[in-house]
Amino acid sequence: MKKLFIVLSASLLLAACGGNSSSSSADSSATAAASGSTGAAASATTGSTGAATGPDLIAKSDCSTCHKEQVKLVGPAFADIAAKYQSGGDAIVDTLAHKIINGGSGHWGNIPMAAHANISVDDAKTIVKYILTIKKN
Ligand code: HEC
Repeated sequence: MKKLFIVLSASLLLAACGGNSSSSSADSSATAAASGSTGAAASATTGSTGAATGPDLIAKSDCSTCHKEQVKLVGPAFADIAAKYQSGGDAIVDTLAHKIINGGSGHWGNIPMAAHANISVDDAKTIVKYILTIKKN
């Protein structure tokens, strides 16, 4: 895992600096690896290309106070959401992204989903696409 992260950071740095000498990029990736321990595990496993991933965005927001992957909390389990909408395609990604941003209720019961006006449509779609990949255990 650590090795993978160093490779990822090194390639990110290379992309960012347009290719440094190998000695200086090795130095900086060591710092990046050391400081990256807070949220790096999730993004490394999903093969991120540098943009924020679904798990990152979920971790940065308040989703997990109401949602877990496998069990219902205040809101439905992400795996149940995936099972319900899996066949919906792009239209459903759009609908659910706007539901994350605007909030709402009625699809799973009467408890409303909180609005998240600070999340962009693109980020919300990234989150939805990730949620739809979560399988029920
Ligand atoms: C305050 C509690 C709460 C928070 C915080 C919350 N949710 Fe929800 N969420 C709910 C509830 C309750 C529902 C069911 C709403 C319904 O019945 O239509 C729901 C439904 C959903 C749905 C399915 C919507 C539908 O129409 O079927 C998705 C997707 C979702 N939440 C994602 C998220 C994401 C992503 C976040 C974080 C950005 C988040 N939720 C944060 C409570 C919450």
